[in-house]
Order: sequence, then structure tokens, then C-alpha cells
Amino acid sequence: MSPVLNTDRVVIVGAGLAALYAALELAPHPVLMISPEPLGLGASSAWAQGGVAAAMAKSDSAEAHASDTLKAGDGTVDAEVAAMVTRLARDHILDLTELGAPFDRDAEGNYVMSREAAHSAARVVRVKGDQAGRQIMETLIEEVRATTSIQVIEGTEALRLETRDDAVTGVWIRRSDQLSQPILIACPGVLLAGGGSGGLFAHTTNPPRIRGQVIGLAARAGAQISDAEFVQFHPTAVDCGEDPAPLATEALRGEGATLINADGHRFMLDQHPDAELAPRDVVARGIFAETQAGRHPMLDTRVALGPEVLTRFPALAETCARAGIDPVADPIPVAVAAHYHMGGIETDMRGRASLGRLWVSGEAAATGLHGANRLASNGLLEALVYARRAAGDIAKTFAMPKGAVAELHPAFEPSAQGMNGAAVQELRQTMTTHVGMRRNAKGLRQALATLAELEAAQPQDEGFLNMCATATLIATCALERRESRGGHFRTDFPQADPAFAQRSQTTLAAAHALRDEVLNSL
Ligand code: SIN
Repeated sequence: MSPVLNTDRVVIVGAGLAALYAALELAPHPVLMISPEPLGLGASSAWAQGGVAAAMAKSDSAEAHASDTLKAGDGTVDAEVAAMVTRLARDHILDLTELGAPFDRDAEGNYVMSREAAHSAARVVRVKGDQAGRQIMETLIEEVRATTSIQVIEGTEALRLETRDDAVTGVWIRRSDQLSQPILIACPGVLLAGGGSGGLFAHTTNPPRIRGQVIGLAARAGAQISDAEFVQFHPTAVDCGEDPAPLATEALRGEGATLINADGHRFMLDQHPDAELAPRDVVARGIFAETQAGRHPMLDTRVALGPEVLTRFPALAETCARAGIDPVADPIPVAVAAHYHMGGIETDMRGRASLGRLWVSGEAAATGLHGANRLASNGLLEALVYARRAAGDIAKTFAMPKGAVAELHPAFEPSAQGMNGAAVQELRQTMTTHVGMRRNAKGLRQALATLAELEAAQPQDEGFLNMCATATLIATCALERRESRGGHFRTDFPQADPAFAQRSQTTLAAAHALRDEVLNSL
């Protein structure tokens, strides 16, 4: 018999911004958070440098923010979602400020805002240059630790959803540090807020554990998946041999930092009227082309920031010190890296997934806000807005349990099985080679064949099956989108095709059917 623990707590899978914020919004409703690492470690939100996009200046408006979001998303943003999210942005910034988030302010108390690519105004509320994610997370973690209705089990990860009649009835979890036998937590509902899939690629800015597992486990349970092919590659990961690759925030380019190659040529001037501040997909393709041509793209902060780069952008200063780069004297080598998954689990405006009793927020969700290319710093904003909406809907759906709800103390049995690290690395390399910045039908078919082999060789490893599920969804949707749009670039279909100017929807069953067709045709 598999062990089962019953609880009246709503289970939140994940421990990033969306998870913490939703847990606080749900209080005093009792929740159980499943956090793969100690709180604050391992969540992408803590690594976010830019900040939160919100029209806080008198000269700016939510309408202008929504319009920039639509433009960057390249024809596939849901306009109603963009209007709603940008309208609510201001309230969330004020609420985070109230909670103690130390946003940068000027002498009059106005928010100091960064300029980032494809924003028509300086609109990114920030903390000490590039510290927004870390500082907001610290503020929320302190609140969560002080909130008695929230139980956090650190060092555990979700593996599978338990369902009955298309509704979620529980979630299987195991230890994430030393693998263990799974335990089923039978619960009234589940909120998935466990991040995106950047780590499915060999070059990524995401923390090491963020490898599409949460999207994959929802897909394996039958949830609808949207926009899976749209993966955003960040143009300026510092190219210093680290995995994951450290980010050099786009706000540096907002401050006037330029992109040059080994010949000293400012190549983005040739490619877009907004040069370094062109939409992120355009800059990423510009950088990738320089790398491929062996011209070593670099971010040059020397004229724009001089020695101030060290104090105004502490995360970058730390990276450079570790890598032996002196940004005051030399330009910083950069390369593209998988950064954000626009696609994910289809999520409606209440934060609901297509399965009953399942909610989603944060990067795992596909809400329709980002389209084919997310506008910078809309990721944290979307996490906040949908965490609150999902929490509100959950609270309406389930009556508060009567009386005190006991904490859970799962006793995990050890497992002999370990993760096959070589298979994970092969999967990541396959994704970068064939499903990365430049895609074509031949490479995508090859990727699907390799993914099928890898999956078949590890049928017992559910964590790996979750990764393979997400990777397969990305590759099949990329194969089906026979055009180029936003972050999705096909060398065999290099133009946008108006016939494809809409979001994509699929399920894992449909992706497997397409994959099997491909395998039969090889
Ligand atoms: C950055 O700071 O460049 C990243 C911000 C984001 O991805 O939203």
C-alpha cells in the first residue's frame, strides 16, 4: 500500500513569488507549501533582477503598459488579460510597499524606475539596481514564516497529481535532496506555482532545479497546455562558463550600456531602430548571430556607468568578481540563455487550470499575457496578479475548515533509485541544439526522437518523465508552428504567417500522438 496523508490544507506546489504571495493571500485559510529547497533558495523569482513592471509615474498609464505588452507579444497576447493585469499593477506595488518591500524611491518619495526593452516609458519598479527579486522574496518570506496558517515542508518536490473524474484530489511528493518513496497528500485543491522550464536547456539563467517539472506533471494529469513553443531567450547572460549562466539585467541597457562585438562594432544599430532596447527576441537573435559568427558579443557598460556599475548593480558586480571580469575596464562577454517560458498550463482569469480543483500562477501558467515574447518585468507582475486571483477563487471554492488543522509530518522511506544525471544533460543539450534559438523541422524531429528514447530508458523516474513531458510539448508545438513569431524562430519558415497569429493549445496526449507520427516517418 502506498502511504497517504489526508489534509484539509490547500497544497501550494512551489516556493517562489507566486507561491508565497498566494499563501499570504489565503491566510488564515490553512495551506501546505511544497518547497524543493529552503525558502528563498532555488526559486527563479529570487534571481529576477529587473523588477516589477507597473505604470507608477504620473506621465505613464496602464493603457500604455498594456499596449506595449500587446506589441511585444507579437500578435498572440490576450488583450483582455493584458488590460486587467496592467490595471492591477499599481495596487500590487502599493501592497508590496506596505509589506515592507524596499523599492528604490527618490527624495520626494516617488518610485525610481528602470527603462527596459520595448517599454515606451521607464516603468520597472526596482530595488537597488538589480536586487528586486531577492529583496521582494525576503520581505514575503519573513511574512510567511510569521503566518501560522502556512506550513512549509522544505526539501520536498511534487511528482504527480492524483485525479478523479477530471478533478485533482491530491499530489504525490517526495524528498528532493535525497530521493525517497513518494507519499500522496490527499487534499481539497492544489495551486501549482513551481516555475517554468528554462533548465530544460543547456544554457539557462534559471536556478538548477527549474526544469519544466511542474508544467510536465500537470500535462501528465491531462491538463491543457498553451503556447508551449514560446520560450524566451535572454540576450545578456554573462558568458563565463557557469551553469546556470548569471544574468546581466536589461536595465543596464536602459541606463545606456551598449552591445559591441570583438571588432568594437555596435551591431544592434544595424538591426532595429531601438538598437539595444529593441524587443528582447530581436536583441537575442542579434547576439546569437554574433556568437555563431565567432564575433564574441559583449555588453559595454564603461561609458554609460563607469565605476558606478559596481555599486548600482551589485549582482553584476558579484558575477564579474567571480569570473575575473573588470566591467569598469572591459566589456562583459554575453550570450543568449533560456530565461522564461511564455507557455505553460492553460490558466483562466480566475487562475483555474482545465482540471477541477487545480489552480496555477507564476511562470508555470499560460494566462495569455505574454504571447510570443514577454515584455520585460511583466513576469513578476503576472505572478502577483494571478496569485491573488487564484487565492481569491480558492477561498471562495472551499469553506474554511472548522477548528485547528494539524500540520503534516510525512515520514519518507528511502528509495534506491537516483536521478540519471547523464540523461538529464543529454535532454538539455538536445533542447539547446534543436529546440533553441533557431529551429527547423529536421532538428525538431530529431529532438523528438531523442526525447522518446531518453524517456523510454527511464520509465520509473517520474521527475525525469515530467521534464520529458514539457520538452516534448515544446518541441511538438514548435514543429506545428510553421512560421516565426516572437521567441519562436524557424529557419525553414523565417517569416510570420498571419494564419498562425493566435495562441496554441494542446495536451500531452496530442503531443505524444504527433511525436509517434514523427517517429514512424523517420
Ligand atoms: C532582466 O532584468 O533583464 C530580466 C527581467 C525580466 O526577465 O523580466
